[in-house]
Amino acid sequence: MKSAQPNLHLDTLAIHGGQSPDPVSGAVMTPIVLASTFAQDGPGVHKGYEYSRTDNPTRRTLEHCLASIEGGRHGLAFASGCAAMTTLLHVLRPGDHVIAGDDLYGGSFRILDKVMKPMGIVTTQVDLTLASRLEAAIRPETKLVWIETPTNPMLKLIDIAAIARICKGKSIPLVVDNTFATPCLQRPLAMGATLVVHSMTKYLNGHSDVVGGCIVTSDDEWNTKLRFLQNAMGAIPSPFDCYMVLRGLKTLPVRMERHVKSAGSIAAWLEAHPQVEKVIYPGLASHPQHALAKEQMKGPGGMISFVVRGGAPAAKALLETVAIFACAESLGGVESLIELPAVMTHGAIPAAQRAELGITDGFIRISVGLEDEGDLRADLANALEAAKLAR
Ligand SMILES: Cc1ncc(COP(=O)(O)O)c(C=O)c1O
Repeated sequence: MKSAQPNLHLDTLAIHGGQSPDPVSGAVMTPIVLASTFAQDGPGVHKGYEYSRTDNPTRRTLEHCLASIEGGRHGLAFASGCAAMTTLLHVLRPGDHVIAGDDLYGGSFRILDKVMKPMGIVTTQVDLTLASRLEAAIRPETKLVWIETPTNPMLKLIDIAAIARICKGKSIPLVVDNTFATPCLQRPLAMGATLVVHSMTKYLNGHSDVVGGCIVTSDDEWNTKLRFLQNAMGAIPSPFDCYMVLRGLKTLPVRMERHVKSAGSIAAWLEAHPQVEKVIYPGLASHPQHALAKEQMKGPGGMISFVVRGGAPAAKALLETVAIFACAESLGGVESLIELPAVMTHGAIPAAQRAELGITDGFIRISVGLEDEGDLRADLANALEAAKLAR
């Protein structure tokens, strides 16, 4: 398929990136090619596809679209965000060292701690909200720096350009997990990152009906290594899921606009609520890195963390009372979700580390969906009333 021009605006690339009408039928939507294998004219003489683990037309279209929206040259799709991350980390060798932010998605921490560490790849976690802390942690064997920003679930911001400058000086590749921001709000490659990873399960697909992941890079050498591992390890998404993400991506820019608008007003409302002890949202002036949010991001995102007064019983009552918000893990879908990180998404993080980060029993994370903002506020107001009675 002919690709859309690379210098187009993100809103256009989300719809047309890597795509054009099917040359056979004229279909404007990318066909789902379910074939596991492709006929060859003779041994090794084929039309660009041999076997669907290696490459598949629907997946390739998605990969081109992902690369175009992140402003990279190469996109690689995987069966989940964790599959993307694990595949990437397999470029490393025993003895290699990774520096990661101190606040990561629990599953990302689990891969580093329970999968890679036994294979001899050691990770040091550092609070990189102060970029200078990175330099002190770098060792001769440091082969990768891994950050999330905004972090999950503390919504701390890391200065991508500052971290990238230090990494570049030491020739260490920088990976940015851009799941929370999406390329609509933040472009890590343009700020100097070597690789961007995503859980496509979240905003990129946006409809809570696909588990997927991806990596985007402009580095040809990294692309070669990752393509080898994508095929060799085989953690690839199905053609159907690739189609679903392509479909979801078409509305990503308009969805993000609404997520940001509603989250901004709900965060301000929560901050003024007597039942709420603290709100963390990069768009609030009270966020310690509000200035960086304005500089680095086009919008502060659709995720809010807050602490309800009354600890565990209040949090439990709140999560059991909401009616529009679903008490569920994950984020970034059209529907609003609410969860308790200490028990749900971040249960894999040791209790002491959770306490140090501030992930207490009353610490709640919400993913603001696309429902009417007033309805969402009313739902939270009702649940906060139940939380008050439960204290
Ligand atoms: C920031 C972040 N990165 C990676 C992942 C892992 O993605 P997946 O669940 O698609 O494997 C998640 C999942 O919640 C996440 O929040």
